[in-house]
Amino acid sequence: MKFSITSVLSATSAVILLALSAVPASALPAAPAAIQTIEKRAGEISGLNNYSCKPAKGQRPVVLVHATLLTLSSWSDVAPVLIKRGYCVFALTYGVNKAVPGGMGGLNSIESSAQELADFANNVLNKTNSTQVDIVGHSQGGILARYWIKYLGGEGKVYRHVGVSPINHGTTLSNIVTIAKAFGIFYDSQALFDKFAPSFYQMVNTSDFIKKLNAGGDFAPGVIHSNIATKYDEVVTPYETCWQNGAGITNLLLQDLCVLSLNEHLTMVNSNVVIQFILNQLDPVSAKTANCLSIVKGF
Ligand SMILES: *[C@@H]1O[C@H](CO)[C@@H](O)[C@H](O)[C@H]1NC(C)=O
Ligand SMILES: *[C@@H]1O[C@H](CO)[C@@H](O)[C@H](O)[C@H]1NC(C)=O
Ligand SMILES: *[C@@H]1O[C@H](CO)[C@@H](O)[C@H](O)[C@H]1NC(C)=O
Ligand SMILES: *[C@@H]1O[C@H](CO)[C@@H](O)[C@H](O)[C@H]1NC(C)=O
Repeated sequence: MKFSITSVLSATSAVILLALSAVPASALPAAPAAIQTIEKRAGEISGLNNYSCKPAKGQRPVVLVHATLLTLSSWSDVAPVLIKRGYCVFALTYGVNKAVPGGMGGLNSIESSAQELADFANNVLNKTNSTQVDIVGHSQGGILARYWIKYLGGEGKVYRHVGVSPINHGTTLSNIVTIAKAFGIFYDSQALFDKFAPSFYQMVNTSDFIKKLNAGGDFAPGVIHSNIATKYDEVVTPYETCWQNGAGITNLLLQDLCVLSLNEHLTMVNSNVVIQFILNQLDPVSAKTANCLSIVKGF
């Protein structure tokens, strides 16, 4: 059998590749910076996945679910803020295909990744003696819990669900191919994507997966949903497809909170405005306005 995977690279070497202009930077203007910003700080996030942590009264364990091609270290800005606020914070890296170098997550079939989240969250519930978690999910990570709830027994186990540029309605094939290229993963046929990274074609807005995800409604009844999108999203277009169509759902555009925020799809998790939004959703009682001041003020 003859096939060539021209460049299957780790995120780090993809950055080098981009720096050498082997891939035109114009293919994805913000991604090289994004990759560096998000994954360079890989390593321990102090206090994350502490199974001795006991949620304070009125709080639930918070489970963070990363985006396609990223790992749990993409939460290195968000998680410490939540931990400092006293939350018990948990995160997994899901969807790693050992045949693809680099350890990037979110590659495997979305159903199997949703099962990984289910197993992880069930264990968190058990170990923390809790009945419900709150979920914060980025991109593909923003739909796994919905699949868990709808098809894998997660009903009643999620209280709040915060989507950061979630792919609630999928995206376009060309956007997906663009981002795959920027990370150095580019297969020249759907068959190869399906072999090494089946999630990619499942994220296309017309896929069977997206149809099944949204059959009967694009939200989970009983869950408090909120979403934040960015107008500079190069992966999920149009950005309004991040939003959900149910009563009482909060759907916000980052630039309506702070017009100066230039964050694109991946760097959403590095934005202080987004972090303030997440804090506000998790605890509306102590909410502080998320706006441009959040950038300088910090937490
Ligand atoms: C884990 O949680 C326990 C209980 O709250 C705490 O005593 C301990 O310091 C935490 N460990 C880390 C590494 O944060
Ligand atoms: C677990 O939660 C239940 C119900 O809230 C409580 O009765 C029980 O004492 C808790 N167990 C532990 C080990 O905290
Ligand atoms: C956690 O799982 C163990 C093993 O299945 C079970 O014995 C225990 O009751 C569970 N604890 C909670 C709080 O669900
Ligand atoms: C999928 O995306 C394309 C490009 O934005 C759009 O033209 C099409 O209507 C979308 N289809 C569905 C089912 O959302």
